[in-house]
Amino acid sequence: MSCFVLLGVVAHGSVCVFAEQRQAQPDIIQRSERLDGLGVRVRLTPEQYAAQAAELRITYSKPPAEWPKPELEEHPDLKFAEIGRLPREAPHPERNPFTKEKAELGKQLFFDPRLSGSMQIACASCHDPDLGWADGRTVAFGHDRQVGTRNTPTIMNSGFGESFFWDGRASSLESQSRQPVINEIEMHSTPDLIAERVNQIAGYREAFKRVFDVDEVSFDEIGKAIACFERTIVGGRSRFDAFMDGKTDVLSDSAVRGLHLFRTTARCINCHNGPNFSDNQFHNLGLTYYGRKFEDLGRYIATKKPEDVGRFKTPTLRNVTATAPYMHNGLFELEGVLNIYNAGGFDPEPKNEAQANDPLFPKKSALLKKLNLSKRDLADLTEFLKALEEPKQRVRPPVLPK
Ligand code: HEC
Ligand code: HEC
Repeated sequence: MSCFVLLGVVAHGSVCVFAEQRQAQPDIIQRSERLDGLGVRVRLTPEQYAAQAAELRITYSKPPAEWPKPELEEHPDLKFAEIGRLPREAPHPERNPFTKEKAELGKQLFFDPRLSGSMQIACASCHDPDLGWADGRTVAFGHDRQVGTRNTPTIMNSGFGESFFWDGRASSLESQSRQPVINEIEMHSTPDLIAERVNQIAGYREAFKRVFDVDEVSFDEIGKAIACFERTIVGGRSRFDAFMDGKTDVLSDSAVRGLHLFRTTARCINCHNGPNFSDNQFHNLGLTYYGRKFEDLGRYIATKKPEDVGRFKTPTLRNVTATAPYMHNGLFELEGVLNIYNAGGFDPEPKNEAQANDPLFPKKSALLKKLNLSKRDLADLTEFLKALEEPKQRVRPPVLPK
């Protein structure tokens, strides 16, 4: 019978070898490559690793209710839902129901640079389907190539979101769409100007008449059509989804192990949870850069509550490997992101009394803990994140009305 061998240093300094029987399966699975508390690292031989992955594959082939318990922090900030398959369709709200024609109209508007002051920049300039519906840039550039301060998030699966922007300042996709238009350094225009332009384009006027039964288009309908289109950009075809559908051989051993780490030792599931891998909450990982270059107060900008300083919306992790670089400031590659988590996030100490008494001095989320993950753990987590990537969608820009 094979067994898992645990190598570690005991208190008096000598190296000792523990052996555990394979019968203790659930326990072994729970602890993965690391022993909590003891600081003892488990080194698995390739055979043991394969055996562990095989067990995990069987375990995770069962319904989620029978999966190992996730490692969750008991804290008011925790809002938990199990990860899982994404529904094939995002919900459309009653006040803006789906019709095929409305979504097609929204797609034209999304790709139409005439929505910008310069008539050069479309939503799709920054949310490019070939770049995972983001722009692959550190921070976006828009009107006159001016740069913003934030990284462009993907709009894929945004129909499952509850609030929009890194600070959540928009509460619907309809209201969100107004903001890039009026943003000085993004599209540099006004809703009225855009409505006026759209009204001058016969093809649009006819389409809006058919879809919304209006003779005069206002930005309201423009926003509704764009939002309707955005809700049709859904994933759910990743290898992880296929795994959840019962194709349990589509994930590599490393990805299966990464899935388990994600839910347990690596604690990602405390925030990246539910089918869209986001709790739709706001957390501070320590990236506020408070009082420094790149300072971004995050959620505080929307709420003005001191406890929200430096909190940002938990982004979806679906398709994440297609939308580097990362975080609200776009300053990190995936490896750097994982290193931040492994270190338990950044927890800046107040440097002086003024900072110590400053009610706005940012506090790191209590849901983050130092992880002590090994290189192999990090590689496995990465493999799991890759399994959340959707097959590339090749989207031809639509023909625009004249
Ligand atoms: C110049 C680049 C640029 C253009 C043009 C642009 N966006 Fe964005 N978009 C961004 C950036 C950057 C953010 C994040 C901004 C923030 O959090 O403050 C964002 C955020 C979003 C979000 C929120 C996603 C989320 O998960 O929170 C949506 C939805 C969105 N944009 C849709 C649109 C639509 C619709 C248009 C066209 C009307 C548009 N964008 C035009 C760069 C752009
Ligand atoms: C305390 C909640 C929390 C936990 C735990 C957590 N995350 Fe995050 N994650 C966030 C938030 C919030 C952001 C955005 C932070 C920012 O931009 O400042 C984020 C950003 C990310 C990003 C960048 C995504 C993008 O589009 O820019 C990745 C990748 C990521 N997390 C992966 C993970 C992994 C892997 C784990 C486990 C090791 C994990 N997260 C644990 C809340 C969390």
